[in-house]
Amino acid sequence: MTSVPKTMRAFVLTGHGGFDKLEWNENWPTPEPGDDDVLIKVHACGLNNTDVNTRSGWYSKSVVEATTGEAQSDDGAEDPSWGGAPLVFPRIQGADAVGTVVAVGRNADPGLVGKRVMVDPWQRNWNDLSDQSGLGYFGSECDGGFADYTLANVRNVLPVNSELSSAELATFSCSYTTAENMLNRAQVAKGDRVLVTGASGGVGSALLQLAKRRSAVTIAMASKAKHDDVERLAPDAILDRDPDDLLAALHQATGHRSVTVVADIVGGPAFCSLIDALGRGGRYVCSGAIAGPVVDLDLRQLYLRDLTFYGSTVTTTDVFPALVQYIERSEIKPMLASTFPLDQLKVAQQAFIDKKHVGNIVVTMD
Ligand SMILES: NC(=O)c1ccc[n+]([C@@H]2O[C@H](COP(=O)([O-])OP(=O)(O)OC[C@H]3O[C@@H](n4cnc5c(N)ncnc54)[C@H](OP(=O)(O)O)[C@@H]3O)[C@@H](O)[C@H]2O)c1
Repeated sequence: MTSVPKTMRAFVLTGHGGFDKLEWNENWPTPEPGDDDVLIKVHACGLNNTDVNTRSGWYSKSVVEATTGEAQSDDGAEDPSWGGAPLVFPRIQGADAVGTVVAVGRNADPGLVGKRVMVDPWQRNWNDLSDQSGLGYFGSECDGGFADYTLANVRNVLPVNSELSSAELATFSCSYTTAENMLNRAQVAKGDRVLVTGASGGVGSALLQLAKRRSAVTIAMASKAKHDDVERLAPDAILDRDPDDLLAALHQATGHRSVTVVADIVGGPAFCSLIDALGRGGRYVCSGAIAGPVVDLDLRQLYLRDLTFYGSTVTTTDVFPALVQYIERSEIKPMLASTFPLDQLKVAQQAFIDKKHVGNIVVTMD
């Protein structure tokens, strides 16, 4: 067994607020695996909006603005986390850890030692999957991957047999499980025309690839400056992020004035036009609201056109193993925008918030 140092480097979140709540530590205690855990030597960990939203307290119902990364609510807020409950600090964030298993608990398979694994971020009550009180997210309700070592329940890790680098693998877990779950919820299949908002980002680029994998027609919405990069994902059409007349832009690009599915992670002021773009019986599925969580809805649009709305957050247990198979079969490709060393996490997070990149940003440990 590899020798594991007693202390490690870690970025530790000390409370909700601004960047000052993220503290660099070079002597943080290395965790020890419990009976059901594996200890992972982290190689790389992807950034996600949930790190930003949790740090800033954006999930609180009292916040109605777009995500900016600025402190939104302080440690006194009652509902600052994704699940609506206060977090326990200090906390190591980072949902997308990729690394090598270096030790296992009594109930975990010793054959995992030495294997490179990805982590399914959904912490569940594995003895009773219907127990919603047992839900947590890796890097939120338990420590995550912005450290040299991390623990995961053995049921949450899978070895990955792939030529991809660990940094590339660290772009997948959060975004792609979210996207696949959205497509499952909305039953996206061949024959669907799927409009994807935020298509240059983590979940959006995942939605494009995973909807295409199902032989659906994909229409991406993204900032003009990012169209060339989004083109690499081969959507059937690309529209501007905020067209003056969405239906006319759709018609011009696809020959249709409507879509069957809107897969939305942006929300905000564009919401009404997205709903307008759904034909009769259309499905709207949402996993995020980066441009603003509070929107106007004309209920006549919902009922007169027989629309169905889906919220999507907690993935079903089949989603992560399916994702690993898609990776191993090279059915999806990573969109790695840039990497930063772990100790530059704040710089990396500022670049992530600035949104000049396409795909995802990752911190690496070596
Ligand atoms: N429910 C869940 O389990 C879950 C999981 C993952 C993510 N999410 C949520 O989904 C949302 C997107 O996540 P992501 O990881 O895909 O984000 P991301 O990588 O940051 O991408 C978001 C994209 O949205 C576009 N955008 C449009 N309007 C924007 C605005 N006002 N501010 C910032 N960006 C805007 C940007 O593209 P253009 O510049 O091309 O417009 C950007 O590339 C976030 O709110 C996140 O919290 C939820």
